[in-house]
Amino acid sequence: MKVAIIGQGYVGLTISAFAAEHFQVVGFDSSERVVSLLNQGKSHIEGVESDLIKKYLNSGHYSATSSGASIQDCEVIIIAVPTPLTKERRPDLSFIDSACETIGKNISKSALIINESTSFPGTLRKFIKPAVERYSKSPVEHLYAISPERVDPGRTDFNQKNTPRLFSGLTSEASAKTREFYSKFCDNLVEVSSPEVAEAAKLFENTFRQVNIALVNEFAQIAHSLGISVYETLDAANTKPYGFMKFTPSAGVGGHCIPVDPTYLAAVAEEHGAPATFIRRANEVNLDMSKYIVNRIAADNGGNLKGKSVLVVGVAYKPNVADVRETAAELVIEHLRSQGAAVSWHDDVVGNWKGEGSALLQGADIAVVVTKHDSVDEKKILASAPYVFDTTGKVKGAKGL
Ligand SMILES: NC(=O)c1ccc[n+]([C@@H]2O[C@H](COP(=O)([O-])OP(=O)(O)OC[C@H]3O[C@@H](n4cnc5c(N)ncnc54)[C@H](O)[C@@H]3O)[C@@H](O)[C@H]2O)c1
Repeated sequence: MKVAIIGQGYVGLTISAFAAEHFQVVGFDSSERVVSLLNQGKSHIEGVESDLIKKYLNSGHYSATSSGASIQDCEVIIIAVPTPLTKERRPDLSFIDSACETIGKNISKSALIINESTSFPGTLRKFIKPAVERYSKSPVEHLYAISPERVDPGRTDFNQKNTPRLFSGLTSEASAKTREFYSKFCDNLVEVSSPEVAEAAKLFENTFRQVNIALVNEFAQIAHSLGISVYETLDAANTKPYGFMKFTPSAGVGGHCIPVDPTYLAAVAEEHGAPATFIRRANEVNLDMSKYIVNRIAADNGGNLKGKSVLVVGVAYKPNVADVRETAAELVIEHLRSQGAAVSWHDDVVGNWKGEGSALLQGADIAVVVTKHDSVDEKKILASAPYVFDTTGKVKGAKGL
């Protein structure tokens, strides 16, 4: 069976790597750079080894392309393109629309179209199906299904095989074919009664994280004002064997999912006249953490950061990945600069970011740890400046939340 995967980023390439074991996979991406790298056997995604791509290229099980014509005889098409927010922080479905155009214009035989991109309930039924039909040259009937992706880049204990996968088709035939497809490489398939339930469940999973992270970030501020350790208090609460789940404070949330997906849920809630107050407030608390942290650092340093050299340690949005999308480091740097600090950053996993390179881990007046990669030595962080503020709770001996 020939499978097209539209979008070869974190989600699409990860799926390609599992699907290519069983099917002939065409990885379609609008970026010529990504396609060229992949066809040279070079992976640009953590967790997908270049050797695996090379193996599937050599066996003919995988190829990357930017040409719509290359997907025309595919029987299964997976959509794995970005679903960001617009400048006005509204859902931006333009990438999904463009994926639908590629499908509509190139697939003339009936196929199974599965959306793995995260979006609000109703996207498959009210947006994707009509868009594919609108772009189609012939009046072909496709099958449509949703299976939201749960990949956690950089994670090794949970993967496509052992992470339960939600799915639902628009028809029972679409559901049956979706089950058949994923059962080749996923052990636990969970069918729900409608695509809208699957779409909403994905948004709720990430909203649950966003709200709990905001709660613990607010609690970190309360604990500090009370003069008690937030970490010791959380560990104490965590001895309760039921009804509690430990989240830890941070400089804020980052990545493609947690800062973005809850806003998709809030937008659809508000469109239907339902409140989304927790979601909106959680977003504000998480965004404000960077300002709180910079104010704490200023207060510890004579109330003023003017002219101080500040080194931000770790700018990726989470440990051990190079992904800087929506990283909290950006806001921390913005607030430090607005207080007059001379800011540089150290992150050898990221390397280059916004035209700047990773600085040496030494010689600053102040160091702020936003993300602690395993490869960065704790002692070197502590030696990098006379004052070190750690937002991760991982650098013993530093000041912190
Ligand atoms: N990254 C994650 O951890 C994660 C986890 C679960 C779900 N998701 C969701 O999966 C979706 C994809 O996210 P991602 O992290 O893989 O994004 P990504 O930015 O890593 O990759 C998207 C890829 O799609 C390509 N692309 C953009 N528009 C295209 C088009 N019209 N046609 C073909 N290719 C196109 C881009 O060039 C890019 O290579 C999003 O909806 C996201 O919310 C992401």
